[in-house]
Order: sequence, then structure tokens, then C-alpha cells
Amino acid sequence: MKAASRFRTLAGAALASSALLGAPALAAEKASFNEAAAKATFKRNDCGKCHAPDRDKKGPALQNIAKEMRGKPDAEDKVIKNLTTNPKVKLLDSGKEEEHKAIDTKDTKEIKNLVAWILSQ
Ligand code: HEC
Repeated sequence: MKAASRFRTLAGAALASSALLGAPALAAEKASFNEAAAKATFKRNDCGKCHAPDRDKKGPALQNIAKEMRGKPDAEDKVIKNLTTNPKVKLLDSGKEEEHKAIDTKDTKEIKNLVAWILSQ
């Protein structure tokens, strides 16, 4: 009887500590970006008119953007700038120059979430 209750205590402690260890790891993973939210921002802003994940349209494929930015320490800043300062860009299909669309929100968290998703492609 005594041994069994000690076992239960041990098992309980192991479960509790794995829950404690597991929770922060999961939270950190989720904090990197929320895909559904990023896609919603992308859709609401009509970004898909010019950008697809895996092929060039009027703008480069998100995968090409991510590839080009990979490993650059200022990648996030560069993309945020692109989305908030209307830089001149050349449309890939016509070569026409126009101002890049600015994102419709000033919510830094939402913008960073979108950028993290783009850079993960
Ligand atoms: C009218 C077409 C068009 C729309 C709409 C558009 N883009 Fe772009 N985007 C472009 C073009 C063209 C480029 C630049 C291509 C180049 O110069 O290499 C570009 C570049 C980018 C880049 C790369 C920035 C860099 O520094 O290299 C990102 C990221 C991006 N767009 C995201 C978005 C997002 C997010 C949206 C929606 C808010 C959006 N785009 C809407 C056409 C568009």
C-alpha cells in the first residue's frame, strides 16, 4: 500500500514536471507566428493579387522573397518597411513602376505576424 502511493506521487510529479517543461516550449513555437491570422491579413489586403506562395505574379513568389531574405539580420525590418512606406517597385509582369501597397493596419503585432509568416515560406 505504501509503495503504491509513493509510486503514484512519483508519477504525478513526473507528469507535472513534463507539463511544466512542455508548456513554455509550445508557447514559444506558437508565438513565432499565427498562420491563420497572417493569411487573414494577407487576404484582407489583397496581397494575393500580386503574390502567391510558390509562383511569381505581378510580384515575386513569397518563397522567393523568403529565400532572398533568409539569414539576413534585417529581414524583418526590410519587409516591414516595404509594407509601410510605399516604396517604388517594378511589377514583374509589365515592368511598370508603381508604389507598393501599404498594409491597412498600424498594429505592429499584426504586421510582425504577417512578416514572420512570409519569411517562413
Ligand atoms: C500591385 C501588386 C502588388 C501588391 C497588391 C502587393 N505587392 Fe508586394 N510586391 C510587389 C512587387 C512588384 C514587389 C517588388 C519586386 C521587386 O522589386 O523585386 C513586391 C515586393 C514585396 C515584398 C519584398 C520586399 C523586399 O524588400 O524585397 C514583400 C514582402 C511583399 N511585396 C509583400 C506584400 C504584401 C504583404 C502585400 C499586401 C499588403 C503586397 N506585397 C501587395 C507587388 C505587389
